[in-house]
Amino acid sequence: MRKLFVSVARAATVAIVAAFVAGTPARAQQAPARTADSIAAPVIAKGDSAKLKGPRQPVFFRHDLHAGAYKIQCQYCHYSVAVSNEPGIPSMQTCMGCHLVIGGSDSANKAEIKKVRQAWADKKPIEWTRVHYLARHVHFPHSQHIKAMGPVACATCHGDIARMPQVYKVNNVNNMGWCINCHLERKVTRDCSACHY
Ligand code: HEC
Ligand code: HEC
Ligand code: HEC
Ligand code: HEC
Ligand code: HEC
Repeated sequence: MRKLFVSVARAATVAIVAAFVAGTPARAQQAPARTADSIAAPVIAKGDSAKLKGPRQPVFFRHDLHAGAYKIQCQYCHYSVAVSNEPGIPSMQTCMGCHLVIGGSDSANKAEIKKVRQAWADKKPIEWTRVHYLARHVHFPHSQHIKAMGPVACATCHGDIARMPQVYKVNNVNNMGWCINCHLERKVTRDCSACHY
């Protein structure tokens, strides 16, 4: 009986996610989430989250749950990645489209979502810690890379974000050799002025 209730609740959440993702055609050209794949997002106890790689964020936002289990497309949140230099970190509005309704199914999720709702109520956007950050003298156009490498290129540089409970750097982006190696391999320009102002 409890099992039935849980699966009904989960189906309802998936339907809500699908409705929101489908309901914003301006930025979502992707198929709505249909299935929650619980294998992709393990339960992580509070104590265990301290062992995760990458900087600890003010809210424990999980890519393995959003992009993994619920299959929300990267570009639903990072919607400028294919059209501008900056992919952008989603605004609170993007979160609240779902989290005004979705409050969380267990106590850990509820507690983290409460922080998101509080930030929204206080009009104090969450201050995420940047993971990848290039020096100011370097120019990195995301859109040009996505156009050349395709929309699933993210993993080539960022690793399998959809399986990460917390984002960490898979490649050292602050290393010129990393850029040059790929440019050499793919016959892309190595002109100093292409990357440096
Ligand atoms: C539901 C919204 C959402 C979805 C879907 C999403 N992201 Fe994110 N992403 C965020 C938020 C919020 C942050 C900032 C917090 C953090 O780093 O975890 C972020 C951070 C990142 C970062 C680190 C940025 C930095 O500071 O360097 C990368 C890389 C990233 N996302 C890639 C992806 C990829 C690739 C996908 C698809 C597989 C994806 N994201 C899907 C919301 C989302
Ligand atoms: C398309 C719908 C959708 C969007 C957009 C969305 N979420 Fe979620 N979020 C969910 C669902 C579904 C869950 C799982 C709820 C549960 O069952 O506990 C969740 C869970 C969470 C949790 C609990 C811990 C975790 O990550 O698993 C946090 C925190 C969270 N979301 C923050 C955010 C933030 C911050 C944003 C905006 C950057 C965001 N969410 C955008 C659907 C969404
Ligand atoms: C060719 C390598 C490469 C590819 C492909 C790539 N990125 Fe990045 N990404 C980077 C680098 C390098 C940075 C740091 C940029 C900077 O600091 O100016 C970055 C930074 C980011 C950030 C943080 C930006 C911010 O404003 O905080 C996000 C989010 C992100 N990438 C998401 C994505 C997503 C989503 C995709 C796929 C659609 C993607 N990236 C594809 C290399 C890449
Ligand atoms: C995995 C491969 C890969 C990596 C890593 C990579 N690039 Fe690129 N880069 C490309 C491809 C492919 C293009 C697209 C060329 C085109 O538009 O045809 C490109 C284009 C560019 C351009 C535009 C060049 C022009 O013709 O105007 C710049 C600038 C650039 N990359 C900077 C960087 C920087 C800075 C880094 C490291 C932080 C980097 N790239 C890492 C593959 C890569
Ligand atoms: C494909 C992109 C790309 C090209 C082409 C490129 N660089 Fe760089 N360069 C980078 C990146 C990325 C960094 C590291 C930035 C950081 O620290 O965040 C860097 C760093 C540097 C630094 C600082 C070194 C340090 O240790 O901090 C110098 C100097 C430099 N580049 C000179 C050059 C010269 C000269 C050329 C032409 C021969 C060149 N670069 C071509 C991407 C590029």
